[in-house]
Amino acid sequence: MQPDLKVHRARRNRLLKTLGEGVLILATAPEAIRNRDAHYPYRFDSHFYYLSGFPEPEAVLVLVAGKRPRQYLFCREKNEEREIWDGFRYGPRAAKETFGFDAAYPIAELDRRLPSLLENEARVGYAFGADPAWDARVMGWINAVRGKARAGVTAPASLLDAHVLIDAMRLLKDTHEVELMQRAADLSAAAHRAAMRACRPGMGEWEIEAELTRVLRAGGCQAPAYTPIVAGGANACVLHYVRNDQALRDGDLLLIDAAGEYHGYAADITRTFPVNGRFGAVQKEVYEIVLAAQAAAIDAARPSHSFNAPHEAALRVLTQGLVDLKLLAGEIDGLVEAEAYKPWYMHRTGHWLGLDVHDAGEYKRDGIWRALEPGMTLTVEPGLYFRPGKDVPAQLENLGIRIEDDVLVTADAPRVLTAAAPKSVADIEEVMLER
Ligand code: GLY
Ligand code: MN
Ligand code: MN
Repeated sequence: MQPDLKVHRARRNRLLKTLGEGVLILATAPEAIRNRDAHYPYRFDSHFYYLSGFPEPEAVLVLVAGKRPRQYLFCREKNEEREIWDGFRYGPRAAKETFGFDAAYPIAELDRRLPSLLENEARVGYAFGADPAWDARVMGWINAVRGKARAGVTAPASLLDAHVLIDAMRLLKDTHEVELMQRAADLSAAAHRAAMRACRPGMGEWEIEAELTRVLRAGGCQAPAYTPIVAGGANACVLHYVRNDQALRDGDLLLIDAAGEYHGYAADITRTFPVNGRFGAVQKEVYEIVLAAQAAAIDAARPSHSFNAPHEAALRVLTQGLVDLKLLAGEIDGLVEAEAYKPWYMHRTGHWLGLDVHDAGEYKRDGIWRALEPGMTLTVEPGLYFRPGKDVPAQLENLGIRIEDDVLVTADAPRVLTAAAPKSVADIEEVMLER
């Protein structure tokens, strides 16, 4: 499924209406050097892409609100020489038509054209404070307008954080976005299934990473949505383990947190399964606790519940589990209140998901957790991690388990976008038996 460019224009129209008056300026991400003259793979800025669908670097979106709304794109010119080396560029003329702008100009004309677009506008919105050079540039345009005061021209008198308005839009996914997210989720679930099928004792974590990325890329994902975590045994207790350079041992669990990006949209899946295909008794006992916590948390992702409700639901089940494992004693309310679970569960249960894996959008408003609404997408990812320490019995040492799915809040039951990734003990063991 390809991005639908009418969708982006409709988003710009909606934003202009919300803005009411003033000018918004949004630049896409710059290209980044990896080393010497080698670049990182290019990834556009999510806010810019959400509104434009335009994939090239060196591009700026200018939206003018008011009685005569206008939508401009500044982008690279066609360049036969550069296109021989680096490939196709739209150039302003094709970009205007293809992406539905009122006008498009060469990016080299930005400094010359911007001041006149700011004349007599009450306010200007951009992502201030993100890049000092960009701040200086916008101030330069504003000062250029101020320089015309004696000619009766007024300059913008207030600044607006452009991201705040767009964050609020991005928090509620439209049907187009849900389709792309479902595709990212399906391809990522297939990658986890393939990893389960490929896994054998003695393989390297990097070989499983290779299998994951192979399936994602072959399925049509442009890139992994984030650096894959492929963590065998004790490595699962390192929350952001990305070295993926150790051998997988018979009897250990393997925690994989990996997913793809599809036309800009991220999935985010974690599965934990036995390297040899069969859960041991203690592994299974802990796994069932995390799984039950996740089920309770997913069930709490319903309209009018707070963003924190899934976390609270997970905490209760995990804390009960820690009591059952004899790591804690006491009644659940008090233990949760005292955060007694913290030595073994130190992260939150989820985050917004979308164009960014940790997506845009407020979590609290005026200090109060946001209420969930249909169209919001979040992850649900409880875990338990037993680093060796004075309170951890030997049979639990180095066990690390997380289970993560992506959930769309709907008017009814939560929709688990990543349900195709095997998750129950029986389903995982069955998939691994097929090897
Ligand atoms: N993969 C990043 C996260 O789970 O938040
Ligand atoms: Mn994750
Ligand atoms: Mn996550």
